[in-house]
Amino acid sequence: MNTRKMTPLRPVFHFTAPYGWINDPNGFCYFKGMYHLFYQYNPHGCEWSKMYWGHAVSKDLTHWEDLPIALYPDQEYDTDEVGGCFSGSAIVRGDRLYVFYTGTSRHGNMLVQSQCMAYSDDGIKFEKYSGNPVVRHPPAHEGEVSNFRDPKVIQAGDKYYMVVGSTTGGLKVGDGRIFLYVSDDLMQWQYKGILLKCNGEWTSMCECPDLFPLGNKWVLLFSLMHAVNAEKTVYAVGHMDFENCRFTIETTGELDYGMDYYAAQTMLDPKGRRLVIAWQNSWEWLPWFNDFGRTEQENWRGSLSYPREISLGDDGKLRVYPVEELQTILYPEHTYRDLKITSERTEIASPASGAYCLKIHIDLSENRADVLKIGTKAYGDKATIISIDFEKCSVSLDRRNGDEVFIPKGKTTCLFNGLKETFEIMVLVDKCTVEFFVNKGETGMTCTVFPALEEQKLWLQTGKGVCCIRPHCRQPSRTMPPRSPSVPARYSMRTTM
Ligand code: FRU
Repeated sequence: MNTRKMTPLRPVFHFTAPYGWINDPNGFCYFKGMYHLFYQYNPHGCEWSKMYWGHAVSKDLTHWEDLPIALYPDQEYDTDEVGGCFSGSAIVRGDRLYVFYTGTSRHGNMLVQSQCMAYSDDGIKFEKYSGNPVVRHPPAHEGEVSNFRDPKVIQAGDKYYMVVGSTTGGLKVGDGRIFLYVSDDLMQWQYKGILLKCNGEWTSMCECPDLFPLGNKWVLLFSLMHAVNAEKTVYAVGHMDFENCRFTIETTGELDYGMDYYAAQTMLDPKGRRLVIAWQNSWEWLPWFNDFGRTEQENWRGSLSYPREISLGDDGKLRVYPVEELQTILYPEHTYRDLKITSERTEIASPASGAYCLKIHIDLSENRADVLKIGTKAYGDKATIISIDFEKCSVSLDRRNGDEVFIPKGKTTCLFNGLKETFEIMVLVDKCTVEFFVNKGETGMTCTVFPALEEQKLWLQTGKGVCCIRPHCRQPSRTMPPRSPSVPARYSMRTTM
């Protein structure tokens, strides 16, 4: 059933499904006193298949309680065997929660993707709208559109807007575009135009678009399928002209520079924070690309990032940092002495739980090292390595020798904003995930790694020179999962697991 068992690889403070496969977060919102999280879900197995919308709620973005599946692929417009109910978003209007998703169906050989709606008054049981699909086809006059999905609905002034991702000219070779629609009532939608064209630059298919205001700017977010560089979530900050369907880009960047941060979705919470959550994987993980066995033996596959808060930096770029709620689950410090790190490896004990938050402050006036390397999840000659290069002002994440699993490995590097008086890095390790954040969210990276051993170490090393640090390490409290969710009996699962 849907009780999580604490197995060697299952994350402790990152969301995983009770059983089976998950990918994108969907319908992330706040409704009647609870945060709601929906997700692309296969409750029947650990591989991607016909999609359902899984559902969980939380008061603190950290302890999640499972609710019954919200959307089943059970209508002629959303029952494609290799589709089902695809990704989408949620919006609250009055006392009602509306969710928008892509229904997938097949007409002969043709895959049809259309935008659909369902609603709920209690936030648990969803009714599909009798007038579905609310957007049946992509705009006929915009050329061939073979993929058309992932509606994100927002309110701006007294109108509702929907952004939808698409491709023209084919998935791998075509060009990604984002369409904009407008509505007065969430039911009747009119096409406004193309909000973004990739023009061969980012991707052939924009997945999971999102559009939101931040300070006096607007942000357009989307994920790159079959990307020119890698599958990632990217953003553009700029100005939004709804009337003329024009987004003027001022700056662009990646929401996370690691390998596993995809299909990110945001929400505005009652505290006024712009929160974001993403799938901590990317599509290269699919079984038809690679063998990625290990977590399947534990009956789960796929996790979501710990929620992060987005803010706008003085340089016009986004800052992305785990929400403050994280601090409330971290308990006693693992105390370390002041350490003098040299080019010889210094091993320090890492919490046996395999889940921890490590913070390192460096006084740069005292630093004499060129590079500081942090070897996380180290065992034998393996480690997932974070390197800070103080000369190039860059950070990198290297999982090429992180485990023995045959997956697309990789190393990625990005710049941070130059040296100030101090440098801070926060590293979050949660069983099979490694994330880090530089200078409170100036930049950050996420990846997964699947080591064979439960016992892993942590080491530090410089390239040359000495770096004096005092690391602080805290672990999530023992009240974190495993947990037995309480699902109201009347809504118990319709499927057998
Ligand atoms: C993104 C995505 C979406 C789609 C969903 C299917 O990861 O491909 O475009 O709606 O996953 O599960």
